[in-house]
Amino acid sequence: MATKLVKTCVFPVAGRGTRFLPVTKASPKEMLPIVDKPLIQYAVDEALSAGAEHLVFITGSSKRAIEDHFDSHPELEGVLQAQGKQELLDLLRGILPSYATCVYIRQPAPLGLGHAVLCAQPVVGNAPFMVHLADDLIDAPVSCLKQMVEVFDTYRGSVLGVQEVPRQDTDKYGIVTLEKMVAPRIGKMTHIVEKPKPDKAESTLAVVGRYLLTPGVFDDLAKIGRGAGGEIQLTDGIAQLMQREPVYAFQFEGKRYDCGSKLGYLQATVEYGLRHSSLGPEFAAYLKELATTL
Ligand code: UTP
Repeated sequence: MATKLVKTCVFPVAGRGTRFLPVTKASPKEMLPIVDKPLIQYAVDEALSAGAEHLVFITGSSKRAIEDHFDSHPELEGVLQAQGKQELLDLLRGILPSYATCVYIRQPAPLGLGHAVLCAQPVVGNAPFMVHLADDLIDAPVSCLKQMVEVFDTYRGSVLGVQEVPRQDTDKYGIVTLEKMVAPRIGKMTHIVEKPKPDKAESTLAVVGRYLLTPGVFDDLAKIGRGAGGEIQLTDGIAQLMQREPVYAFQFEGKRYDCGSKLGYLQATVEYGLRHSSLGPEFAAYLKELATTL
């Protein structure tokens, strides 16, 4: 059963999103739609399903659309009401349940994911919290964060969502080394390194955008300097935390789409389109026909 110890989820959304330029010049990467919902809404839905009540967005320049998306829109709601479009009205009003609170903290400059998470400290306080990177979209029967909360309930230590990646890709991820498996899919970690070169990586187990962290990590993030890519890396903070507390790597069940890359984004769009309740069959027929011409 989901614990009520973990009530806050942090969404770092202050990155530049350079891999998606020019679309990300004035619009947030996290507002890219997968069919008809922006990535950040999938992220919030996942956090809510895991028991989050406080949603903390770390924002930066050109990210105002995220605040607007989770705010009410009385003018639009009025128009839909007058037109009798109840279904669309319900859709808008259902974006966020009334018990959820949103806090927006501005990261002064994109100094790195670790710095972004540190910006959340005044709101998170001294409680364990989740971190969700919206460009890693994970499709799972039980949401990835909910699976991780269950692991936290048992082990009461920080949990990182991990997945095997091809060796040639280790320099795109934080790569973990395990001391031993404590249960199927759950390993106690000994090392974590940000973006190691393929010939230097100790494993091919990569962290993919889901973290459940104890608040001790804030002390480490405040102390570490710039790491890989000249950024303040969350990975380096976790490496320090691991000197004092157990940290677990959890191979979640589910399929992950790297929506920070154009190919991953297109794959997610096609697969979510095929599964879409009203659009799916027509879209499948279209793709079948298209395939015959390739
Ligand atoms: P990425 O490594 O994907 O960087 O950040 P990015 O800037 O978003 O995209 P590219 O690589 O330039 O295309 C991982 C997550 O961390 C957030 C990003 O918004 C993204 O969700 N982030 C990164 C911050 O919030 N602040 C930062 O300083 C860096």
